[in-house]
Amino acid sequence: MSNPFLSLESLTKKFDEHLAVDALSLDVEQGDLLALLGPSGSGKTTTLRLLAGFEFPDSGRVVVEGDDLSRRPPAERKVGMVFQHYALFPHMTVAENVGFGLADLNKTDRDTRVRAVLEQVHMGELAGRPVTALSGGQQQRVAVARALAPQPRVLLLDEPLSNLDPTLRESTRTELRDSLKEIGITSVFVTHEQEEAFALGDQVAVLRNGRLEQVGPAPELYEKPASLFVATFVGRGSVIKGTLLEGDVARINDDVSWKVRTSGALTVGENVNLMVRPESIRFTDGAGLGGTVRHVRYSGARAFFSVETGAGPIEVEASVHAAGAGDTVRLEVDAVHAFPQSDE
Ligand SMILES: Nc1ncnc2c1ncn2[C@@H]1O[C@H](COP(=O)(O)OP(=O)(O)OP(=O)(O)O)[C@@H](O)[C@H]1O
Ligand SMILES: [Mg+2]
Repeated sequence: MSNPFLSLESLTKKFDEHLAVDALSLDVEQGDLLALLGPSGSGKTTTLRLLAGFEFPDSGRVVVEGDDLSRRPPAERKVGMVFQHYALFPHMTVAENVGFGLADLNKTDRDTRVRAVLEQVHMGELAGRPVTALSGGQQQRVAVARALAPQPRVLLLDEPLSNLDPTLRESTRTELRDSLKEIGITSVFVTHEQEEAFALGDQVAVLRNGRLEQVGPAPELYEKPASLFVATFVGRGSVIKGTLLEGDVARINDDVSWKVRTSGALTVGENVNLMVRPESIRFTDGAGLGGTVRHVRYSGARAFFSVETGAGPIEVEASVHAAGAGDTVRLEVDAVHAFPQSDE
């Protein structure tokens, strides 16, 4: 990327001696949605607050369109923020909430802008409603409209869907992505849910202990995880031990060796962690890793089989009729990833 719209350059933030954000560098293209994904305490909210200007970094920079914002107060950044609990003003209507940040406009211009932004999030008809008389999904759209009203250059969203019940989340997710894409606003959002990050983000950045583990489009993270942490955080997978041999082959036991995809610096003879996704392993009548089916979890026409093997438990996804609890089976793999055991 030659001229990214938004850049985080080696951002670092310490609270006492604790490094909440540790030399974090990320670029976002204009109009893209970047997801910050990571477990609790990995520095997602702190990163968002550094972008918004609610915190200042100890070192590093936040740059938008070539402007260094790192030391500017929030009001001077032209960055909009949607808070996790929306923080709407309960005694105000939808339109009053959305117009709140537009005090410098005259009434006519303010009304025009409020109407336009409410249309963009499909809330035009509810402009006069008190926000207390809205559903969770509608409140979320008002919060987005309020953040967009002053025409920010970047929109930040902290766990934008976590307040909604699961049935609403999926449809709201699609609507939110469609709206942001239509508006073309460059956005950064925080989530600890892989599914949400994958569904909303053009790029997904995985954070761990304040550090960037990997950034890329969802399929790349899923298919080419750079570490065992990313591999297991962004999808289902079983982890077993093996030993790396010549030619990207890992030995599981005396009878079984599998071709592997390697990540990180690995040397021949090294003990490795092997990660295999349930859809990348199958039952075979031929040679393979032997095991016994312990549990079956049905999911429509497919099922997840927990297979106890000499190398540890492995989860296999297959058709419901492929095996039953108690069966002795053999396993063959399509794709296995090898990681250094030092990187657990
Ligand atoms: N104001 C603060 N003072 C001291 N420590 C803080 C402060 N804010 C955050 N931290 C610490 O920094 C680390 C990162 O916190 P942060 O809130 O950014 O994590 P997060 O990824 O958003 O987690 P969650 O998913 O739980 O919201 C945590 O260890 C947290 O305890
Ligand atoms: Mg947080």
